[in-house]
Amino acid sequence: MSSPLFQFEANPAPVEANERSRLLENPGFGKLFTDHMAMVRWSDDKGWHDAKVMPRGPLTLDPATAVLHYAQEIFEGLKAYRLDDGGTALFRPLENARRFRESAERMAMPLLPDDLFLGSIEALVKADRDWIPSIDGSSLYLRPFMFASEVFLGVKPASEYLYLVIASPAGNYFKGGAPAVTIWVSDHYTRAAPGGTGAAKCGGNYAASLVAQREAIAQGCDQVVFLDTAERRWIDELGGMNLFFVFDDGSMLTPPLGTILPGITRDSVLTLARDQGIAVREAPYAIDQWEADAKSGKLVETFACGTAAVVTPVGRVKSRDGEFTIGSGGPGQVTQALKARLTAIQRAQTPDPHGWVHRFG
Ligand SMILES: Cc1ncc(COP(=O)(O)O)c(C=O)c1O
Repeated sequence: MSSPLFQFEANPAPVEANERSRLLENPGFGKLFTDHMAMVRWSDDKGWHDAKVMPRGPLTLDPATAVLHYAQEIFEGLKAYRLDDGGTALFRPLENARRFRESAERMAMPLLPDDLFLGSIEALVKADRDWIPSIDGSSLYLRPFMFASEVFLGVKPASEYLYLVIASPAGNYFKGGAPAVTIWVSDHYTRAAPGGTGAAKCGGNYAASLVAQREAIAQGCDQVVFLDTAERRWIDELGGMNLFFVFDDGSMLTPPLGTILPGITRDSVLTLARDQGIAVREAPYAIDQWEADAKSGKLVETFACGTAAVVTPVGRVKSRDGEFTIGSGGPGQVTQALKARLTAIQRAQTPDPHGWVHRFG
């Protein structure tokens, strides 16, 4: 579109305006898509080339395309917001660009420069700006991803890749906005071992988590919490969110980085809490301690955080041994205050002391 780096090819048959407005009244999550997509190619001999925004449509892949066999794939997730003054903003997009590079490094893939990452997103959002929903709490969810597109069955880093961005208007991640979610403790399946890919945002991590997520749903829970691989004792994170614990002395704790995904929401919450003078520790927390602290009243709140679900209270924890309730089982005060502060900054409704809001267009 207007990005000098990206050629623009308009969709000749975009969704008609009335139909788009109807769809945007109840976008749900991850099932509705815009008219365009961004694409950049990479090959060993040419590097990054052929950057364009084009009509969104199916990809044709040879059955021997490497990603279909060895899952050399990474992705990101971030949101574009419609601001009260009519402008458009992204939240900390260069952090996503950095994490995308770190994931690429871990998966032996080429590193996408920041100007192409940001340029692809800005060009796509400008083309599909009318798809940003305006109902309360909604946004345009952006999904940059890259995969091995070389047609070759040898097990080695591919010599060709496709990078794409698609956009999906989004309402609430949890059905009904979920006042508080219930978590299932995965005592058998783990997500990430030291030296593995837990800190990378690669598709394989999510494929491996699905059986545990299915177990959680069968147990009537919303999400699964994974424990460490060695002792099945230390709390890592949820299938798609990081965790924070709030204690009766006002302090907070979150599991340390290493095998978990370094969440951008996690980092933002850490910063906002510290800004407010809250003592926050990044330290291991054991599952049995979580239960004991919840039962004694020492632990008063737990919340999950991530781009998709923002800040979501955890009300109940269920495992094969029984279940326990956190606080009142509903949203706690610290959780609600941090959520309100974070969303106000994301939507540019309050001063942005850390320069996190990236306005454009
Ligand atoms: C496994 C996992 N943990 C944590 C997060 C939260 O990360 P962020 O706040 O950057 O969205 C996500 C979502 O991307 C995730 O998939």
